Amino acid sequence: MDFITLRATAQAQLDPVAWSYYQGTADGDPEADQIAWQQIALVPRVMQGLATIDQSLTLGGAHLKTPIMVAATAGHGLANDDGEVATARAAASVGALMVYSSSATVDVTTFGAAAPGPWWAQVYLMRDRRLSDRYVAQAVAAGASALVLTVDLAGSVANAPFRTETQPRMSARPGNFPGLVWEQMSSQIDSDLRPEHIAELAAASGLPVHVKGILHPDDARIAVDAGAAGVIVSNHGRRQASGVVSTAAVLADVVEAVAGRVPVLVDGGVRTGADVLRAIALGATAVGVGRPVLWGLGAAGEPGVTSVLSRLIAEFRQTMAACGAGRLDRIDSTMVRIPR
Ligand code: FNR
Repeated sequence: MDFITLRATAQAQLDPVAWSYYQGTADGDPEADQIAWQQIALVPRVMQGLATIDQSLTLGGAHLKTPIMVAATAGHGLANDDGEVATARAAASVGALMVYSSSATVDVTTFGAAAPGPWWAQVYLMRDRRLSDRYVAQAVAAGASALVLTVDLAGSVANAPFRTETQPRMSARPGNFPGLVWEQMSSQIDSDLRPEHIAELAAASGLPVHVKGILHPDDARIAVDAGAAGVIVSNHGRRQASGVVSTAAVLADVVEAVAGRVPVLVDGGVRTGADVLRAIALGATAVGVGRPVLWGLGAAGEPGVTSVLSRLIAEFRQTMAACGAGRLDRIDSTMVRIPR
């Protein structure tokens, strides 16, 4: 099923409140990130001796079959009764890494026991530290292999009346913080987030901490200096700030600032295998996919997510072949042209 049909199927099947929550953006421009990738033209290499095409990689010590990963998205229980567990099974079946959202519907302990493949746990620093500390301890015990500290919602919480990442009252409840409804979860996010929290989180958990929500190269440098194990270039799927830059436009600058000290990951508007190649050519190590996973889950549950990820993996393989890259390290910045 192509993504347009899949999205329409999901929309027809999901509760309208859940659908608008999944699709929402701050400025009503859901396609901007997607278009930014599309504008980057590929410059294929030929005569490269493509006996095999291999998209596997090692990331944080784990061997992954593909650089395509499931980005952290909240509330999978709004799309399917098995929620995040269905997504984890699908991701594992294709060898993709999953980032589990702290705003999941299935609690992290239940999730960890059921997840067949490697996963990272996303976390927000919460005003009531006991809440985030307890969640992190549970994530460590449940088998998360890294943490993803999301840093781009702190500003919207400081600006509460204009907050765009509002979470409507929905049927399913947050699994890790029972008793809270979604709206209370976002108001718990601490706006006083500072670089030293990265090392504190790493020390408390004993896990590598990837910092998600970086767009400015100076922030990437600051995060790495403060102990980040990786940087995730993300604009939160355009859900946080209105008029925000596309990740495709800033990825190369962040990669340059990080200078190979840690891996740089990216998400936002990645919808095709060609987009994945574009991101890797600009220096990303791995590429996250958000909404299409939710469409797959809403349209057809676990097999729907498997089909979304398999399709992207197959398209990426095809694009690698068409561009003369038999391995990920054969993809470089000479293979893309960014419009001026
Ligand atoms: C998100 N995103 C997100 N990020 C995060 O760090 N923690 C979270 O709980 C969520 N929740 C969430 C819910 C929904 C419904 C969406 C669509 C997104 C952001 C997500 O990780 C990612 O940055 C974007 O979704 C990537 O953009 P695309 O692929 O959706 O265009």
